[in-house]
Amino acid sequence: MADSREFGFQSSDFEKVRDLIHQRAGIRLSDSKKQLVYSRLARRIRALGLKDFTTYLAYLADVESEMEEFINALTTNLTSFFRENHHFDYLATQVTTLKSRDRPLNVWCAAASTGEEAYSIAITLAMAFGSDRPPVSILASDIDSQVLRTAQRGVYQAERVASLSHETRKQFFLRGRGTNTGTVKVKPFLRQMITFRQANLLDATWPAEPPLDVIFCRNVMIYFDKTTQRQILTRMVPLLRDGGLYFAGHSESFVHASDLVELIGHSVYRPCATRENA
Ligand SMILES: C[S@@+](CC[C@H](N)C(=O)[O-])C[C@H]1O[C@@H](n2cnc3c(N)ncnc32)[C@H](O)[C@@H]1O
Repeated sequence: MADSREFGFQSSDFEKVRDLIHQRAGIRLSDSKKQLVYSRLARRIRALGLKDFTTYLAYLADVESEMEEFINALTTNLTSFFRENHHFDYLATQVTTLKSRDRPLNVWCAAASTGEEAYSIAITLAMAFGSDRPPVSILASDIDSQVLRTAQRGVYQAERVASLSHETRKQFFLRGRGTNTGTVKVKPFLRQMITFRQANLLDATWPAEPPLDVIFCRNVMIYFDKTTQRQILTRMVPLLRDGGLYFAGHSESFVHASDLVELIGHSVYRPCATRENA
């Protein structure tokens, strides 16, 4: 069958893409992701006016700044406000136990995508503390610079908050008017609870500093192999204080890391009581 694709895409091109994204971001792409890779990168090839994937990969090797675009194009950023809602309900019940008298409650949202997760944490904690200025510090990071820009703006299509109660929308969002009709913007006090930073979980250093009370690292480990998951967990868990909480995605299981974390709820973990620095 003749290839009707706009740009030439050889099996060897796919293999190179697969190796590179694994090396740079830890993301594993199965054979079934070939079409997805084509459509995501075809946009870059078109924008750059190149002729095929082989030329694009040569360009990527030559032009350092393209690596950021390459990574941004290949990440999957699906998220939503209060995704896996039970985590936020649980977090709210734990605030009294987690808060300390002498420092803010520290949260790291480690694959924040376009920001909905970090804002959901901020809303949950503002409500739990009953304050617009709760003693809370949230670090929201992601490898993808493009989604982080959206997160920082905090502007969303109104449908994305449609499932929230009228009171929650009124308390935490401003409704767009004029040319912004159909959008909502998070209120500045909510935005101020969060610091946004680009961070690759494969990097040797991270912007998060201990002691953390809570880590949300949801629906990102699923893209990594078990070895990478373990390497990340081994460095992440010690950042949590004793009794701190680690929220994982619904399909992420760390039974293979039971020496590091113990399961205490529905995809909620805490550092093992027997850890060396406990
Ligand atoms: C499917 S989204 C999950 C968003 C959010 N945590 C949630 O559960 O709704 C996965 C996010 O992980 C990010 N990501 C992928 N590889 C990463 C890496 N190596 N370091 C940091 N973030 C990464 C992607 O850019 C993407 O925004």
